[in-house]
Amino acid sequence: PVPTLAAGPAGLTLEGVALADIAARFGTPTYVYSRAALTGAYQAYQKALGMRKALVCYAVKANSSLGILSVFAKLGAGFDIVSGGELARVLAAGGDPGKVIFSGVGKSVDEMRFALETGIGCFNVESAAELDRLNDVATQLGKRAPIAFRVNPDVNPNTHPYISTGLRGNKFGVAFTEALDLYRKAARMPAIEISGIDCHIGSQLLDPAPMAEAAGKILGLVDQLAREGIHLDHIDLGGGLGIRYRDEEPPTPTDYLKPLLACFEGRSEALCFEPGRSLVGNAGLLLTRIEYLKPGVEKNFAIIDAAMNDLARPALYDAWHEIVAVAPRELPATRYEVVGPICESGDFLGHDRDLSVAPGDLLAILSAGAYGMTMSSNYNTRPRAAEVLVDGDTVHVIRERETLEHLLKGERPLP
Ligand code: LLP
Repeated sequence: PVPTLAAGPAGLTLEGVALADIAARFGTPTYVYSRAALTGAYQAYQKALGMRKALVCYAVKANSSLGILSVFAKLGAGFDIVSGGELARVLAAGGDPGKVIFSGVGKSVDEMRFALETGIGCFNVESAAELDRLNDVATQLGKRAPIAFRVNPDVNPNTHPYISTGLRGNKFGVAFTEALDLYRKAARMPAIEISGIDCHIGSQLLDPAPMAEAAGKILGLVDQLAREGIHLDHIDLGGGLGIRYRDEEPPTPTDYLKPLLACFEGRSEALCFEPGRSLVGNAGLLLTRIEYLKPGVEKNFAIIDAAMNDLARPALYDAWHEIVAVAPRELPATRYEVVGPICESGDFLGHDRDLSVAPGDLLAILSAGAYGMTMSSNYNTRPRAAEVLVDGDTVHVIRERETLEHLLKGERPLP
């Protein structure tokens, strides 16, 4: 699944660098990203969009490290954020605030103020109460807030229930049936400037059909708005395109976008997309070392130095990530439970994996670029992993490994 990963005589290499060298220089566990893979994924969207007036707004939540954001900023991307913290990251990475869209159901007054002062491109408003609050905050600042409503198109994206977001029963967006009234209301508000419409139906989508269905519904609404004299500058169709973790066959951006582009053919609005996983997921891996091999009565365990605090997806969603030996041994493969050191049975990275390895060997957990580092924690007081970005023969440390000082900072025992 990682396009720039290859097998060399000294084991796996990413672009021009041996993973074993990275482990020797920076230790493990370490997230390792490929700049070429990030760039390639972004360019696949650009190619799919062709000459269409469109903006790719990378969903920062997938991986918000400054090094990753700076790659996309240099490529001219916009950013989809969900907090003031993510906005601060985009600014620190050199992103253009005018290309930032702000999603999320719970924007605080402080976050709105920060975003208005920064001059972001658009707020994706998710409720009537949020619209009122935004109008108040913008009025206080003497500004007008550009908005789109995130409309819930009520389509089933056929993905994991935790990451489907466009069904009527989800907390996201405003109901399709209420959208028209909300636009009318917004049009009368002095500090609100209607800019677009938005929808996002879910993540890890493998079938373009539900998205095309949602786009059709959105288009109907856009036409209805136009008849009332409410004209939009942009139509945001969210993120969600899936990636291959194991044997999934996700459409390419070209195939995924084709029906959407067809739906909006010849229209003057700019199109906007919010992809996260499909830009970073297969551009990164988690490099880890085997601490112990522990044969068991029922199962054998490979105990590694990465854990659910580093990569939560297996424990949280039962997600499958490919795990490969960096330099497989000339040994018959043994079937292992690949587990971390955390004191929970849910702390596994992979079940039933056949590996030819010895204690001390390196493993690469693949497709870990999205929702890996951003969902990591300090559970069990484990400092978070380092992150490095490979660019040809060069390795950039984009985040130093956390230390215990970082972890204890700000805490104090009772006097
Ligand atoms: N836009 C909005 C409003 C979103 O809520 C999301 C993801 C995206 C864009 C980006 O979606 P993507 O292109 O990455 O599918 N932690 C889960 C995924 C949660 C996705 C949440 N929203 C996982 O590890 O699978």
